[in-house]
Amino acid sequence: MKPKRIADLLLERYRQDGAVGIFRQIISRALYFAHWRLHDVRRDRRETHQTSPFYVVNEEELLGSVPAERERVYRPFPRLTFRWSVDSLGIEPAEFTFVDVGSGRGRILLAAAELGFRKVLGLEYARTLHEEACRNIADYPQERLSTDEIASLHVDAKEYEFPPGNLVAFFFNPFKGHALDKVVRELIESSRRSDRMAYIIYAADGGKPPFRNEAELEHFKLGFSDRLKLRTLSPFPVDIYRIDISAEPENSAAGSIICRSGL
Ligand SMILES: C[S@@+](CC[C@H](N)C(=O)[O-])C[C@H]1O[C@@H](n2cnc3c(N)ncnc32)[C@H](O)[C@@H]1O
Repeated sequence: MKPKRIADLLLERYRQDGAVGIFRQIISRALYFAHWRLHDVRRDRRETHQTSPFYVVNEEELLGSVPAERERVYRPFPRLTFRWSVDSLGIEPAEFTFVDVGSGRGRILLAAAELGFRKVLGLEYARTLHEEACRNIADYPQERLSTDEIASLHVDAKEYEFPPGNLVAFFFNPFKGHALDKVVRELIESSRRSDRMAYIIYAADGGKPPFRNEAELEHFKLGFSDRLKLRTLSPFPVDIYRIDISAEPENSAAGSIICRSGL
């Protein structure tokens, strides 16, 4: 990333969160670099299109409306932090479908397939990234993948209907605000339709977790060692929610969820 872009980001963070925000941003970047250097860089070599380089999605290749440039940045989530997040759920992956909302070049799809999720789906609206993910999946050493099905889907996540059956949905900075609200609403409503177990793993840069309707989203309590690892060694805060469809929504609209303003 260019020094000017880093300076802009730091200034923006200072305006939002003051000196503490800047300090967190610096730690986050240092941890991201450490994960890349010590763990991810070697695993990238198994991929035809290496997933580490950042990419700004062109307006022309998008499905649906075009968000601001800062919301079109692709960057991958660290693999180790992803594994810690899944382990902390204490589930048997073979009993769950995994959906990466905004799946980019497919790094997390491959990681989820290696962890043994029954079915692994990625939603990606940028054509280039989707096509690179398809190549990465096709060329990956197949003996490492323990899944019945793995696919990148070229779709706008806002228009997607989640499949039935137990589900883990993963979000790493795809979008915020109304788009996030809409997708999580669909996730809750599809859980009502299929009466299943569903979890959300949510990671983003700084800020507070964006969900506040505690009626259906139960903040999942992590065990001590998982919490310690994720709090101290993850470059990004990771929040995990269990969707509890037996809970009554706080307002009259079933399955509603409201995002905090300013996110
Ligand atoms: C920060 S990247 C995360 C990539 C991937 N989850 C990973 O960790 O390797 C966010 C991705 O979300 C995608 N995205 C953003 N809005 C989307 C939408 N409405 N539908 C589908 N994908 C979207 C972007 O193109 C980008 O690839």
